[in-house]
Amino acid sequence: MEPLPEVTDPRVIDGRKIAQVIESDVKKDVEIFVKEHGFKPALATILVGEHPPSKLYVKLKHWACKRVGIQSEDHKYPQETEQEEIIELIGKLNLRPEIHGILVQLPLPKHIDERAVMMQISPEKDVDGFNPLNMGKMLIGKEDFVPCTPKGIIRALSEFNIDPKGMEVVVVGHSNVVGKPAAMMLLNRNATVKICHVFSKDLKSQTQLADILIVATGVRGLIKADMVKEGAIVFDVGITWQDEKVYGDVDFEDVLPKVKLISPVPGGVGPMTIAILMEHTLHAAMVQNKK
Ligand code: GUN
Repeated sequence: MEPLPEVTDPRVIDGRKIAQVIESDVKKDVEIFVKEHGFKPALATILVGEHPPSKLYVKLKHWACKRVGIQSEDHKYPQETEQEEIIELIGKLNLRPEIHGILVQLPLPKHIDERAVMMQISPEKDVDGFNPLNMGKMLIGKEDFVPCTPKGIIRALSEFNIDPKGMEVVVVGHSNVVGKPAAMMLLNRNATVKICHVFSKDLKSQTQLADILIVATGVRGLIKADMVKEGAIVFDVGITWQDEKVYGDVDFEDVLPKVKLISPVPGGVGPMTIAILMEHTLHAAMVQNKK
């Protein structure tokens, strides 16, 4: 991967810098954990199939583990693997006390029911926050393990001392991984939240109202300047791979002159997501090994 240029524009959220701060805190706390317990926090990842971006994301997650001193193990399965085999593996990982976090990389192949898989992950090892118990807790305002990408967005807001209370938030995209949890976490912080998606009518009239606009659709360049309010804060969570390059959902150059802050693709929410995963794995190890 090509190194990204330095971020010098104060309107551009440098996700890598925020991630570095999170990771350096996690690294220090991992060292303390290891001194106290005599073993490292450990994350198991499960990847099914040959989806190139997923393979890259899993690799990046293992590299991050290495950087912060977390043990990691990599379970890779071919595309045609039966759901039962994955469920069985998760059952075994749930029972291993030396594994503290379990992550199943999404998307899974079509013949596997993602919800059934997520339900199988022990809620206390669910570092991605996708188990329905953790999702339900988030819905009632009890945020234990929550999905890492929206948590990264919340962290970025606090880095810039932005309290979303009372702000108009528009989330474009209603996935379980980003859209729905991002909306819920901002609602938990008393923002006024609207979720738009592929069936929403007149998207522009909605996005134009947003003080905070979160876009997670996977449609390259969907958001243009005329869809953004002057002074808005924009989080681009979309990823489209074309010719070995990644593109966001926001037409960055077009939108930049209008915004107060914007997270770019790449170098925005991606690195923060991984750093939060590290934080969650350490947290899981701490909770499971309370003295
Ligand atoms: N696929 C896209 N984003 C994510 C994520 O945050 N976690 C997992 N497990 N899979 C993903």
